[in-house]
Amino acid sequence: MNYDERLQNVSVLGAAGKMGSGILLLTAVEMADLSLKPENKGKTFCLNAIDVSPQGLAGLMKYLKVQVQKIAEKKTVMLREIYADRADLIENECIINEYVFDVMNIVRPVTTIESAYDSNLIFEAIVENRDLKTRLFSQINENNKNKPYFFTNTSSVPIHTLDEGAKLDGRVLGFHFYNPPAVQKLVELISLENNSAEMTEFAKAFAKNLRKIIVPSNDKAGFIGNGHFMRDALHGIHEVERLSKEMPYAEALYIINKVSQDFLVRPMGIFQLIDYVGVDVVKFIMEVMNPYLPDEDLHSDLLDKLFEMGVKGGQNSNGSQKDGILKYERGNPVAVFDPETKAYVDISGFKEKCDEKLGPLPGSWKPWKAVNFSRGKKEEMLKTIFTETNKMETLGAELAKAYNAKSNEIGNYLVSSGVAHNVEDVNTVMMTGFFHAYGPVNKYLK
Ligand SMILES: NC(=O)c1ccc[n+]([C@@H]2O[C@H](COP(=O)([O-])OP(=O)(O)OC[C@H]3O[C@@H](n4cnc5c(N)ncnc54)[C@H](O)[C@@H]3O)[C@@H](O)[C@H]2O)c1
Repeated sequence: MNYDERLQNVSVLGAAGKMGSGILLLTAVEMADLSLKPENKGKTFCLNAIDVSPQGLAGLMKYLKVQVQKIAEKKTVMLREIYADRADLIENECIINEYVFDVMNIVRPVTTIESAYDSNLIFEAIVENRDLKTRLFSQINENNKNKPYFFTNTSSVPIHTLDEGAKLDGRVLGFHFYNPPAVQKLVELISLENNSAEMTEFAKAFAKNLRKIIVPSNDKAGFIGNGHFMRDALHGIHEVERLSKEMPYAEALYIINKVSQDFLVRPMGIFQLIDYVGVDVVKFIMEVMNPYLPDEDLHSDLLDKLFEMGVKGGQNSNGSQKDGILKYERGNPVAVFDPETKAYVDISGFKEKCDEKLGPLPGSWKPWKAVNFSRGKKEEMLKTIFTETNKMETLGAELAKAYNAKSNEIGNYLVSSGVAHNVEDVNTVMMTGFFHAYGPVNKYLK
């Protein structure tokens, strides 16, 4: 089966979810573009958007139409070529409308799994539940004569357990998009030894056509991205627990959040990142990874406690940040949730005192945005800021050095424990998937 044939019938499971909706959009556009090639004229292309939530699917179809319209507006020149033989399409608006129609025409929103029985490719983005994923794969595989490929978006479940559990004979691989899939450039590709060369080649070709950066990861729980993020987050939590012995918890948390953002020149502090992903999601990913890591305990009592108290973070449907470990006003942290008193403590009450304790930022310091988008000067700016930090002996500088050393250690561990092929891959994942200005394996801070 060649590339185009494989993509003639595809199903996305969990299509109405955060990840599923983006995967569906990207796949729908790729399939529509194939269907419009002259050699594919008259062939049927079908993309099943499968989800248990009918309301979710209704929302998905609206989202899809808006997004496809935007995509079409950006490629009118190409669309004009595609529809060159359509004398009836003269105005840009007509061409755009036709393209939106052609993409939407491929998509079939359904709530039943049976539609996947005719697909050649199954993209899975349902909830992070290994047993449910296994059950659905098994059911589809038993009823589908096409020997479909299964691409899973799981963040943490080792892929071979899905292969063995659903008896797929190597027809599953990890195709791990980052959130949101339509925007984020990174895809972690997790192949199994028993994957056919044809399947991995197809996966690479598909990712390439979506203009993604592919980083291969071995099949170890959490892969590279969460392998780093979960351990990095635990370091932050342990630092707060340590500092809390000598200062109030809320102040310790503010300090570590500030060190991990400002002093390390990262896009957001570690606790803001946990809130962004969701306290519940982070706790859950650790729980999924932990049984596969006999030499470590990837677990936090603090996250358990916060979760039990309903402190979850995550995103509102309009993309704004929900309150979690931190409380937000216009996207900025303004208070810290204290699990002892079960109340938020305003940062304004202790900010000045804590900033004084941390000491100043280096004189050459610039925020992440200015450094990361400084066109060709990034390396030089990072070197200057961190050379200055290295010479400082303030609490802020010392905590930053320790934080970076831990991040470095995690990066190297991901290579030595066989998760990543090399440190460059670890750095690429953190720089493209997490937007860090530099990779965790670096020589900047000592
Ligand atoms: N959210 C992220 O940042 C992120 C990033 C990378 C990978 N992932 C992974 O992607 C997957 C989906 O995560 P999400 O955040 O999009 O979750 P989500 O909760 O937003 O979406 C899950 C979707 O699956 C649907 N669903 C549940 N049971 C189903 C079933 N039996 N059949 C069909 N649909 C079903 C739900 O209705 C929902 O629409 C998970 O495996 C997660 O680990 C998430």
